[in-house]
Amino acid sequence: MSAVTTDTYRSALEAVDRIVNREGEAEEVLTKAVGVLAERFEHYAWIGVYLVEGNDLVLGPWQGPQATEHTRIPIGQGICGAAAAGGRTEIVDDVNADDRYLACFVSTRSEIVVPISFEGNVVGEIDIDSDEPSAFTEADRSFLERVALLLSPHAAGRR
Ligand code: SME
Repeated sequence: MSAVTTDTYRSALEAVDRIVNREGEAEEVLTKAVGVLAERFEHYAWIGVYLVEGNDLVLGPWQGPQATEHTRIPIGQGICGAAAAGGRTEIVDDVNADDRYLACFVSTRSEIVVPISFEGNVVGEIDIDSDEPSAFTEADRSFLERVALLLSPHAAGRR
């Protein structure tokens, strides 16, 4: 597991905060925020934001070595769909041991999915895959939940 310092989380959160406070289209804000996560955290191999559309999660901005075939996931399916249905962060230390897992990349070993809520409703989520097993710590959870809070008006289309 990579040793990420608290300073790295703090300065990345500040970078996202600057992005959301600048004027910009939601798509641009979400794209730039995904870029911050991709640039600053080595253990984040693939990062995507899904947005709720009806009963589905639809893939928005993403960064990673490959595109995923899962560009639309029904809420309730996969780890992504479970996080959206429950409104709670899902951390999976070993994706191959989780029956809910929808495989995207053979290299993925662990995954975190953090819902983005606005006014009590899940409007999207941040999905991150890692090539390391058990890559995601409580520090990742708390950092990404703050990122989700910052992104929420944009993901809801309310900015
Ligand atoms: N693994 C996810 C699907 C999305 S890909 O990781 C990009 C899931 O189980 O829901």
